[in-house]
Amino acid sequence: MQGLIEEGEETIQQKGDADVKDAALIAAAQRVEHYEIAAYGTVCEYAQHVDQSGHRMLSETLEEEKEADSKLTKLAVNSINKKAEAS
Ligand SMILES: [Fe+2]
Repeated sequence: MQGLIEEGEETIQQKGDADVKDAALIAAAQRVEHYEIAAYGTVCEYAQHVDQSGHRMLSETLEEEKEADSKLTKLAVNSINKKAEAS
């Protein structure tokens, strides 16, 4: 996760077209979301067998991470990537 955050920080510091940079920042944010989805998915599966209340909480968090990823995808596909391509 620290490496993913550093990648995002490097993207922020890059010079260049703002729209392309926005597209790159969305991609960086999605890498973080995908890491979180993998991590929460794993512990959610473990919790299903040992801790039902923990499992419910982790399931909710996993769904929130998936929703965040979906929102970022929609933002990229419907707007930011098109602006970046036109730049
Ligand atoms: Fe997240």
